[in-house]
Amino acid sequence: MFKFDIIIDEFPKDRELKTKRRKAARGVIFYQGKLLMVKTSMGDYKFPGGGIAKGEDGNLALKREIEEETGYTDVTVGPLLGQAFEQNSDIFYENIMFQMDSDYYLCFLNSLETKAQKLEGYESDLEFTPVFVSVGEAYESNRSLLDNKKGLVLECSNVKGMTVNEWAMRETTALKYLLESYVDKILPEIYVCGQMMKNADRSVLEVDDKAGHANFVTNYDKMIQGELKKRLLAVYPGALFIGEEDDSEASDSDIESDRFAFIVDPIDGTTNFMKDYRQSCISVGLTYGGELVAGVVYKPYSEEMICAEKGKGAFCNGKPIHVSNSDLDHALVSFGTAPYYEELRRKSFEKAEEFCARCIDVRRSGSAAIDLCNVAQGRVDLYFEYRICPWDIAAGSIIVTEAGGKISQTDGRPITLKEKCSILATNGITTMI
Ligand code: IPD
Repeated sequence: MFKFDIIIDEFPKDRELKTKRRKAARGVIFYQGKLLMVKTSMGDYKFPGGGIAKGEDGNLALKREIEEETGYTDVTVGPLLGQAFEQNSDIFYENIMFQMDSDYYLCFLNSLETKAQKLEGYESDLEFTPVFVSVGEAYESNRSLLDNKKGLVLECSNVKGMTVNEWAMRETTALKYLLESYVDKILPEIYVCGQMMKNADRSVLEVDDKAGHANFVTNYDKMIQGELKKRLLAVYPGALFIGEEDDSEASDSDIESDRFAFIVDPIDGTTNFMKDYRQSCISVGLTYGGELVAGVVYKPYSEEMICAEKGKGAFCNGKPIHVSNSDLDHALVSFGTAPYYEELRRKSFEKAEEFCARCIDVRRSGSAAIDLCNVAQGRVDLYFEYRICPWDIAAGSIIVTEAGGKISQTDGRPITLKEKCSILATNGITTMI
């Protein structure tokens, strides 16, 4: 997830300039681990996309632009990945300040179906050519062009010899974010697996019992976990994978070793999934040396991709999220019933009753990861549960802290990802009573 500005020219103080502001949609299009980009005759790589025309929304404009610029027709437009703003003096017109907002969407090429490209103006002058390229290769190649003193020189039919470093700067910055971010590399993989949950064929649903009261696993939990494991380890070879449905190969000390570890719940809210309650998600936490560095919760039914990286804030579909500022008297409280542990039932409901009396009301969603995201998004103000597994809370915990909230056990001790523990997530203002 990214948000950046490229300001090449400031507004001059001595004269008035007209402003031309445009909005564009661009596609970060993944296909088998590579990006589908266009390469221009200047040698730079560009994300397919462009201006949103009157009467179009971002999604429609992007599909049209991708088809025109690359010829590829079978594309799914996913969630917003990032936003860029750029400002420069218009290269085509004098006395105009050009400003553009670009929304970058995560997209997927579903098949290699194509038709002829439809290039217009500078697109055909610059011989836009579709190419599959890795994020690293595109970044390095653009970077070295920009480092070259000559820069990118435009030789179009109506403009000759102009330097157009700005668009390459925009694309190169977006590529750098993709390259450096922990989550951007794994979002496409998580998205694809989320679609498996959303499009599950319920006629083939199989449910098995697990240890504890009403604790279930479905064939989809296992299938999605298998797919996540394959895909995430392809992005981070050598990482540990600790999944809810695994007989975990990793021991506690492994998590603390100098390695990345994925802590994954393929379907958080399994009971909801079985009942088609449509409140389930994929939860992926990423640790390094035992510390959470990133988390992604993907809610396919509401198409919300929520993620956070250590020190970089928390986002939902590319937009920053923040906890609420309600105090306890004005709080909406959610709780987990610790459903598999009968001995905790009374304690959970007694505490919920106390909150119900003191606060506005209480809620029970059936997914701890969604509860944590709700705290991060300011939709609820406090969440607690008396016993919970690491995969239910790994991703959501870093999302809450990066959104400005607080995470601990219900007695105030820090949570642990090595074993089951209790959890209290708050906006930092509300507290346990
Ligand atoms: C469960 C959900 C539920 C919470 C349980 C979890 P699962 O995860 O997060 O809200 O109350 O403690 O185990 O079993 O659906 O992955």
